[in-house]
Amino acid sequence: MNIEEIIEKKRDGFELNRDEIHFFVKGYVDNKIPDYQASALLMAIYIRGMNKKEIGILTDEMRVSGEVWDLSSIPGLKLDKHSTGGVGDKVSLVLGPMVASCGGKLAKMSGRGLGHTGGTLDKLESIPNFDIYENYEEFKEQIDKIGMAIIGQDSKIDPADKKLYALRDVTGTVSSIPLIASSIMSKKLASGADCILLDVKYGSGAFMKTIEDAKKLAQTMVDIGKELNKDVRAEITDMDQPLGFAVGNNLEVKEVINTLKGNGPKDLIELCLSSGSIMLQQGKIFDNEEDARKALIENINNGKAFEKFKEFVKTQKGDVSYIEHPEKFPVAKNIIEVYSNKSGFVNKINALAIGKGSMELGGGREKLDDIIDMSAGIVLNKKIGDEVKEGELLATLYTNKENYEKVKEDVLNAFLIDNVFDESNISKKILID
Ligand code: URA
Repeated sequence: MNIEEIIEKKRDGFELNRDEIHFFVKGYVDNKIPDYQASALLMAIYIRGMNKKEIGILTDEMRVSGEVWDLSSIPGLKLDKHSTGGVGDKVSLVLGPMVASCGGKLAKMSGRGLGHTGGTLDKLESIPNFDIYENYEEFKEQIDKIGMAIIGQDSKIDPADKKLYALRDVTGTVSSIPLIASSIMSKKLASGADCILLDVKYGSGAFMKTIEDAKKLAQTMVDIGKELNKDVRAEITDMDQPLGFAVGNNLEVKEVINTLKGNGPKDLIELCLSSGSIMLQQGKIFDNEEDARKALIENINNGKAFEKFKEFVKTQKGDVSYIEHPEKFPVAKNIIEVYSNKSGFVNKINALAIGKGSMELGGGREKLDDIIDMSAGIVLNKKIGDEVKEGELLATLYTNKENYEKVKEDVLNAFLIDNVFDESNISKKILID
């Protein structure tokens, strides 16, 4: 077998078999296939696509390209949750403690933010001393002991994805459904959870710009799970505005604390309740949505979810005094208010522009080795559907940089304000299981 023939076969639109896909994945991980040939095959896959069977094989070959963690020694079903990425998406930090406080076992590996999207690990690291350790034994021990762990992606897990993702990033082959689905599912399946809930985002701030593409991606990943006998379900939710009000690392952690204390933004808490109730049913803690939701709400109101968050932070060596006294988090030197230049109703908030703005203020990274300013970001004051008067506050920027004028203008332009509110802009949600 040789790689040229495999590239030509896919280039001409034919189906690849297991031996060919194995040859490619193994050969690339072992440095036997050079980047230029791997890029050519990725582009052929990007253009020609892959059928269900090929996507399943590619996922499986990537999954076994490194270590596969076994969490079966921990009693109960282990739950994982993955969002395809967005702006202001701090769901895992709220959802994890909510679910764990109700008896669910959250086993989650997270990633870092890149470009306009934030990353759970960066948000957690805005808590002083927080340790995102990558260690199998500690991971198992912690889930067993406190019911949740969120750690970094161990480099021994799914090395194929690590290499292929870096290559896709520079060869225009990221936004391909077969490649995204196999990338996400291979690492999720290698990290050992029994049940996975996917939050597939669509809209201006997401990889998938349309709800139709998000549905296709979600269905592809749910199908991969079925093939491998895992309980994989997907929610499709919009990223046509940032989630909650805060965008930027410690600003988001402060919003997480407020949410766990019962004072969260409506859209964030609603998404956590819907995702949490699905996860508690996947984990067989509850057998219907109503009871699961009731338990989640109860644990916000009685403080158990917040206590679980503190326990989680403490177990991963974070300084809990910041969670108890969020006023201790550093605040950026420059605080700039953005006011509306017209009256009306907010119809859209360009999440991509807000995410990019936060990155430019120092809150995100353009390249993987950029250093993040944990205090930088944007806090919205208005959301879709809100009425605004001319001169009213739309958002506040936080930065230690001095050149923020362009971001200020971009944030103002990110708000689409009209005389009437178009009801079709209200967010939609679909469940695929
Ligand atoms: N997230 C991933 O992990 N992989 C992709 O390909 C896209 C988003």
